Amino acid sequence: MHNKASITPSTSPALVISQEALHHSVNTLNYLREKSGCRVLYSIKAFPFIPVLQWLKPHIDGFSVSSLFEAKIASEVVVKQQGIHLTTPGIRPNEIAELNQLCSHISFNSVNQRQLFDRQGEQTFSAGLRINPKLSFAADQRFDPCRLHSKLGVSVDEINRHSFNGLSGLHIHTVFSQSDYAPLLQTVDKLQRQLGEHFSRLAWLNLGGGYLFNTIEDHQLFIDLVLTLRHQYNLQVYIEPGKAVVGDAVDLLATVLDCFDSDGKMVAVLDTSINHNPEVFEYQRQPNILQNDPQGKHKAILVGSTCLAGDIFGEYRFKQALKIGDKIHFPQVGAYTSVKANRFNGYNFPDIYWLDSENLQRLKQYGYDHYQEHWLAG
Ligand SMILES: Cc1ncc(COP(=O)(O)O)c(C=O)c1O
Repeated sequence: MHNKASITPSTSPALVISQEALHHSVNTLNYLREKSGCRVLYSIKAFPFIPVLQWLKPHIDGFSVSSLFEAKIASEVVVKQQGIHLTTPGIRPNEIAELNQLCSHISFNSVNQRQLFDRQGEQTFSAGLRINPKLSFAADQRFDPCRLHSKLGVSVDEINRHSFNGLSGLHIHTVFSQSDYAPLLQTVDKLQRQLGEHFSRLAWLNLGGGYLFNTIEDHQLFIDLVLTLRHQYNLQVYIEPGKAVVGDAVDLLATVLDCFDSDGKMVAVLDTSINHNPEVFEYQRQPNILQNDPQGKHKAILVGSTCLAGDIFGEYRFKQALKIGDKIHFPQVGAYTSVKANRFNGYNFPDIYWLDSENLQRLKQYGYDHYQEHWLAG
């Protein structure tokens, strides 16, 4: 393992992708694949950076996507036959022809969305339906696809009324950052009780993402579940993790631009901001930093450099008082950071580096051109 504190990209702020951490995620997923026979898709919504997709390609069974653009970017790396699986509540009528061409599997979010394609002649993908199993596990409704009045999937209580004709698979995705297989077992058990009689007419079942496989020690429950589904119903079983693949594999490094006292507390302004990790603000989470020392005598509030008063990472403790030029290292922020990042106030995106066992190499630098292109007419 690299000593993270010694990673020093030459520009700041910087996102650093660790090949070693990607290997670690892929090893866990490979273990699941080998023991259970499940197929693994990388859910690219977490971080669709093409070099990451290319690196992952030989280790996985395809990509899971949630829009036409994601399908297109996946198709830069794999062909349809290598697996491009789409599910979204938002297929637009003018995208049907292209999605038909690009995707190997589409799990429709509703009966209406499925009918959009029925009217369009020959389908060249395997059609599935996203099911809402109506079993909630997330305490926070914002993360709960099974919340009341959910927009995600056809209710398991309704589906018996719809025909399984022409359907090859079912899709579920109901949890968020889970480190325990109990929700999966309960959900599949409910599906088996309500829909099990139809399972043997299907070719596949997609169990979605939401599980942090690296944080789970004993995978036997998962392995047994997949083996049962495969052998009892002859189903191909897919999982589509996002965060479990890239979450631990990308760190954000920033630099202190300014330090001053504000009403008796030290405030340190960084050359990054919550623009680069919007979930900090969205969910009011305090991210970890490597420099935090719970015993440290020096406190500082780390803030971003935008005009938003609430652009705050939180208060941390340090061994030494922070000073201008110090580095701040946010570990394990690979999932849902870059994809949600924005350039509020005109601040640029971080450069992106790739760290392998020998080198730290810059792969991407956004410049003013990119920003200007965004705001030019045309
Ligand atoms: C349908 C679907 N599949 C997979 C994922 C990936 O989830 P995670 O990154 O938590 O593994 C998501 C995340 O929102 C999703 O909505």
